[in-house]
Amino acid sequence: MSDSTGNTIVERKHSHVEICLHGDVVFNGKTTGFERFGFEHNALPEIAYSDVELSTTFLGRTIGAPLMISSMTGGYSEAATLNRRLAEAAEHFNIPLGVGSMRQALENRSHRESFSIVRKHAPTVQIFANIGAPEIATKLTESDVNTMLEMLEADGLIVHLNAAQELFQPEGNTNFRHVLEQLTLLTASIPVPVIVKEVGCGISASAARQLIEAGVKVIDVAGAGGSSWQKVEEIRYTRQFKQDSRFSLPALEELLNWGIPTAQCLLDIRALKQESPEFSAIEIIASGGIHCGTDIAKSLALGAQLAASARHILKALHEGALEETIASWLNDLRAVMFLTGAATIAELRHKTLITKP
Ligand SMILES: Cc1cc2nc3c(=O)[nH]c(=O)nc-3n(C[C@H](O)[C@H](O)[C@H](O)COP(=O)(O)O)c2cc1C
Repeated sequence: MSDSTGNTIVERKHSHVEICLHGDVVFNGKTTGFERFGFEHNALPEIAYSDVELSTTFLGRTIGAPLMISSMTGGYSEAATLNRRLAEAAEHFNIPLGVGSMRQALENRSHRESFSIVRKHAPTVQIFANIGAPEIATKLTESDVNTMLEMLEADGLIVHLNAAQELFQPEGNTNFRHVLEQLTLLTASIPVPVIVKEVGCGISASAARQLIEAGVKVIDVAGAGGSSWQKVEEIRYTRQFKQDSRFSLPALEELLNWGIPTAQCLLDIRALKQESPEFSAIEIIASGGIHCGTDIAKSLALGAQLAASARHILKALHEGALEETIASWLNDLRAVMFLTGAATIAELRHKTLITKP
């Protein structure tokens, strides 16, 4: 199946993985903001390291640690291998997992195995289906939603908001009209919670307010400072058309690095949550540039229910060190908990973060 530029969706999905593994796709001159914070050291932790317990809850279920594997791939044969490995790791650590956009699986039955394999290898953890805002806005039917949920026996549906990605994508769909209206209808009709995420440009407090009012139960901020999807798509654009950027050089740098840093999103949404019980019930996922356990710990102290990571997890898988990498992040988290005197994740959420000068 080809789009108007002659690209197949399979080629696109392939190149996303390849560019994320080998290309320069990191924000330049803009960071997540986590480095601005440090925990206050507790010289009297009054716990033993062995007391530290990482389990917590997400959407009412107990999970092994406050970490999620972010939505990445599916929809072509090699994706089945990636998704199987991600599923095995999710099951091993008892952590939630999102799959990549399921658009092509709706359009073509032959791609479904690369998604359904996830549930086979992660029978007990929370798994989330995924679809883009442009699909929500224009053509998602009730039967499409049921097909996606059934393919994974999904615990929820993630909708990604990716305006900047679509803008840079050679074959991008930049019609974002009526997304909010359609989200409101979706949340009212679907039997599972709807999670809304960005893909690296972040979600502001005012966008979060609109999403909560539309019935969204979880917001994944997917902020700036990690992977830049503008950069991923700009690489594809210049390769495909063998020409320079469509944008002027002085503006290009700013556009490629567009977005709200992850820590800033968390601070802004934390303040929003204090406004009302309806707002405070919303669970927040911190993502965008998460690459170690101190990032996870700071995310929780900044109000997130859990943190999530995509590209660094993909890289670890590619390097044959998926479980080892996740285990090391959880060791980082245990270290912070011990040094702040937090035996549980609930206690860590209340520990003092100091803003560095
Ligand atoms: C190879 C790859 C494919 C991705 N595909 C999707 C997707 O289909 N749907 C989605 O919501 N996000 C997708 N993402 C975005 C991630 O879920 C995440 O929001 C983003 O990369 C920022 O997180 P990071 O800095 O940890 O990579 C993808 C990420 C990667 C690395």
